[in-house]
Amino acid sequence: MEVNKPKASVVFQGEDRANDPFDGVHGNYRELLQNEDFEEATSGIEMVDINIDDFSEANEFSSDVYLKLKNGKFLKIFLQASVVDQQRVKKYVEIGGEKIFCIRCEDYLAFYGHDHYVPISVTLLDVGALIPVDLFLKRENNEYQQFLSASQIFSAEHSDILSSRKIDTIHILKSEEKVYFDYAASRLSGFFSNKKNSEKQKADLLINSGTQTLEKSISVFTNESIGQVNKLSENVTSFVNNIEVTKIHDLLNIHQDETIYQHSLNVSVFASVMLEGIFECRRKSSLKKYVKIFDKAIDETQETHDVLLVASLLHDLGKTLLSGESDMNVIFKHPDVGAKKILEISDSPLHQKVAEVVLQHEEFADGTGHPCRLKRANMSILSQIVSLANYYENCIQKHKGDNNKAIEEIQNCESRFNKYLIAILVLALYK
Ligand SMILES: [Fe+2]
Ligand SMILES: [Fe+2]
Repeated sequence: MEVNKPKASVVFQGEDRANDPFDGVHGNYRELLQNEDFEEATSGIEMVDINIDDFSEANEFSSDVYLKLKNGKFLKIFLQASVVDQQRVKKYVEIGGEKIFCIRCEDYLAFYGHDHYVPISVTLLDVGALIPVDLFLKRENNEYQQFLSASQIFSAEHSDILSSRKIDTIHILKSEEKVYFDYAASRLSGFFSNKKNSEKQKADLLINSGTQTLEKSISVFTNESIGQVNKLSENVTSFVNNIEVTKIHDLLNIHQDETIYQHSLNVSVFASVMLEGIFECRRKSSLKKYVKIFDKAIDETQETHDVLLVASLLHDLGKTLLSGESDMNVIFKHPDVGAKKILEISDSPLHQKVAEVVLQHEEFADGTGHPCRLKRANMSILSQIVSLANYYENCIQKHKGDNNKAIEEIQNCESRFNKYLIAILVLALYK
């Protein structure tokens, strides 16, 4: 069924503003509609009179609520989903309203099934910014109520409504997912560099948005997925560059029952920490000598960044393709299956380099890894970084978030890794 959307209201302003009988009384909602505008905005939508006593406190309005004024105009007095305030309703009527009208909720809803919606975090909705997609609230009866339409502005009042109701997840239509994820990806970097946002908020957003992006990109793996993952990889680096890195363990809150997507995101964060660590050491003359070994293999280019981060985000792609197979099969076959899948899509230089790292991410420098028992000399440096980041993340999980025990375990099996990379990890995360 087509969604019926009221068009944007006419805001009472300029000369008319002086005629607003509720000026200064009705708080933030001063959207006064002319009769004809009101009719246009609500055409095709059945209006019902509301009995004030039917509003019970603690409930929220199921649609925008309009007051019919004595002059025949309409005033939008409550936004849909705001909490009922009896006192305010009565005050409006006392001051000069005739009746309270309500757009019938059923007509404003989209009658789609549950499968048509996907949850998103509300953190990325910037107050004052246009929303690129329709937003829906999931009600207790599992119906979806439209909260905002695409191209409307997400206002401070909307934000207040969500926070007062402790809503941190809102829904969008599946068909608009791509539009939303492009929008989200373009906003993440700005969110991370904004000093007003706390480190915890930044981490929550990276985890929420990052795992969602990764899951969507991987579940239907196409060439477009690589582009989406690449965008995410830039956000991972932006996150790492805009937080106090020593707090990363607390911020990521690594735990045992995390999904493969969250694990992969964490691995990419550690890989990014190591890459940035190498660059930082290069810039300090006292530390330069420790990273000399990487001079040839790692240059400070976009390509190095893209290959390392995309590969770390996709390193366990093969596991998602082998679900249903025995644990042993998954463990031994996933690097190869993942690498092949990436090459299936394209054999561009980027895909080839990413596939190489994916294939080698379970190898160890001492030749005890799999599938090829490669030794360090035969592993690329980027593969060595992902191998360490992956092992380290698994160790933290294993030790129930205790990163000190995790790094101890790494140091106890030092021969499996490039010792300079371990030093960079320790320097960055434990200084
Ligand atoms: Fe793996
Ligand atoms: Fe892994």
